[in-house]
Amino acid sequence: MRIWICGLASGLAALALAGCASEDWGPDEMLSGGSRLEQAVLAKGKHSYQTYCVGCHGDKGDGNGPAARFLDPKPRDLRKGRVKFAAVTSGGLPRDEDLALTLQHGLSGTSMPSWALIPGDERAALVTYIKTFHEGFAKKGAGTAIVIPADPWRKDPAAGIAEGERVYHAFAACSSCHPAYVPRERIRAHLTSFNLPVDGVRPDAFVAVAKDSEWGAPITPPDFLVDRVKTGPRREQLIRVIAAGVHGTAMPSWAASLSKEQLWGLAYYVESLTSRRGTPAATALKRELENSERTATR
Ligand code: HEC
Ligand code: HEC
Repeated sequence: MRIWICGLASGLAALALAGCASEDWGPDEMLSGGSRLEQAVLAKGKHSYQTYCVGCHGDKGDGNGPAARFLDPKPRDLRKGRVKFAAVTSGGLPRDEDLALTLQHGLSGTSMPSWALIPGDERAALVTYIKTFHEGFAKKGAGTAIVIPADPWRKDPAAGIAEGERVYHAFAACSSCHPAYVPRERIRAHLTSFNLPVDGVRPDAFVAVAKDSEWGAPITPPDFLVDRVKTGPRREQLIRVIAAGVHGTAMPSWAASLSKEQLWGLAYYVESLTSRRGTPAATALKRELENSERTATR
């Protein structure tokens, strides 16, 4: 009986909180123009935010929650409206679906968890709520979407992987930042296949190079045999981040400069690496590359 009374009392307290909350938070524009339904969604989003996110992202969304000082990378400052992962052209604000995808999947290998276990409508309310931290969402709306082409290699994945390997090491020079995964001789053959000069391969081709970023510290690109891909290791996930790039980092958007065969080839090829992560096959490939370096001509 006592338990029941307590439950009722805290239930009422939560209702009362939600009631007061709608009066004094969020940018004025969001509240004055909003319908009752929108306000209810915002109240729900605020409640979830306070429950799940505030410890890292902070009460004001500034990325300075109590846990933030222990974390690397740091939680995002949500007041800026700028995020790393969004399939929009450079400078554009993320769309709801970009933010929803980040919440659903989380960012693997960082402290940003997946929120796949909370109901979809609650995640949607969170998206609505976190957009109130940056007034640009209400004023100018989301950026221009990057269109992801259909997969041309579906019937011939092996050909996709082969094309991706060639583009990765030569035409797109992904290995100027990320590690290379084929011996030097083969990189030269790939360069030649595009009529590119063969003398530009860096001496440390098999390790990643740290690059400056807008996010307060240089960022080392992932080694796909070792590190986790934050947005996910499968080709349907990879195609998105390869096409859109990682905003505010050295990782460019490739959608405009590569054909759909090349883009999807890269997704297939990188997936062939991420699927080996942590397996003996990854160790074997690393060893093979080390051995080839010992005998290679530079
Ligand atoms: C344990 C700490 C932690 C919690 C809890 C957490 N986050 Fe994060 N979040 C992070 C970190 C760290 C990053 C940045 C990762 C990076 O830079 O790669 C991040 C990034 C983000 C981003 C930006 C992603 C991008 O593309 O740049 C959004 C949006 C976000 N979090 C929303 C939320 C929401 C909403 C919640 C609650 C449901 C939440 N986070 C809970 C740590 C956390
Ligand atoms: C100029 C340097 C540079 C080049 C060139 C480059 N990348 Fe990146 N890439 C990065 C950096 C830096 C990151 C890490 C971003 C982060 O985690 O914040 C990254 C991250 C990634 C990720 C992981 C994204 C995630 O969700 O964690 C993938 C996949 C990727 N790059 C693929 C490629 C492919 C394929 C190419 C060639 C078409 C390429 N990159 C070219 C610098 C580069």
